[in-house]
Amino acid sequence: TRKVILDVDTGTDDAVAIMLAALHPDLDLAAVTTVSGNVPLAATTDNTLRVLDAIGRPDIPVHPGLAHPVARRGFPGPRHFEAGSARDMHGTSLPLPAPRTAARAESAVEFLLHTLRTTTEPVTLVPVGPLSTIATVLAADPSVRDALAEVVIMGGAHHYGNVTPSAEFNFWADPEAAAMVLSAGLPRLTLVTLDATHRALVTRDDCVKLSGLGTPAGRTAADLITRRIDAYSAGRGVAADDAAPVHDAVCIAYLLRPEVITTRPVHVEVETTGSRTVGRAVMDLRPNATGEPNAQVAFDARADVLVDLLLSAFA
Ligand code: BDR
Ligand code: CA
Repeated sequence: TRKVILDVDTGTDDAVAIMLAALHPDLDLAAVTTVSGNVPLAATTDNTLRVLDAIGRPDIPVHPGLAHPVARRGFPGPRHFEAGSARDMHGTSLPLPAPRTAARAESAVEFLLHTLRTTTEPVTLVPVGPLSTIATVLAADPSVRDALAEVVIMGGAHHYGNVTPSAEFNFWADPEAAAMVLSAGLPRLTLVTLDATHRALVTRDDCVKLSGLGTPAGRTAADLITRRIDAYSAGRGVAADDAAPVHDAVCIAYLLRPEVITTRPVHVEVETTGSRTVGRAVMDLRPNATGEPNAQVAFDARADVLVDLLLSAFA
């Protein structure tokens, strides 16, 4: 089993990622850290606890991370939210009972620093929200990257963004943090872009099958993904017709079935100053690219592999 720490801004698609990581026997989900993003930090933390409680894994510790971006203030402020996100649906809470457990007192930054400094087993870190907490950890002690077997990030877009024409939400919501993490010299970085997640759409038929499993995870995933499909179908999300991307779950699926995505090595930087392009992942795809590749970047993904995994893990 692979030791995994998931960093989330829960979030309907984050919720599916958490359930897959917590329930699949091949992964050891050691902890979940939270960050402000889809909704403010208190709500991403509360939603994360709700999800773990709903699937009978309240034993997994949850550590709250940064409530704001590393350099910008006024966050989250009035801005775009994703179709089918918690905020889009009804305020900020996921449609699950209030949690019976509390978050840990130790902050995500302290927890990650301490864990990565002392672990004897390499850790796979999977950030699927804005990178504020992760950038803070790497800035505080760059040597902790040596404890990371792999970092798998959901973020960035090449063809089009979902919050601006240029930018994907997680990078846009804290562009300085994204720039810091991408330039931190991580030994192994895999970037699951919006281009990839939009290739692995989950359909209403898939939701019927998930719900038919009759398990808490199957029913919860079906409910949350159906809400995402409704939102995309109503035109509130980019480019999905009667189906929806479940972005963050693709990162966990990749840990279990790497063939779910197709990657290529790319030099990626994040725009932090452009007047129209802030948060854009600038991919050097030129045949004569100058920078050294710093990430394995996924532009494509397979819905069949993702859905098979959800069905088997939630059974
Ligand atoms: C990303 O932004 C959030 O809304 C989702 O949870 C996902 O991590 C997609 O752009
Ligand atoms: Ca997310």
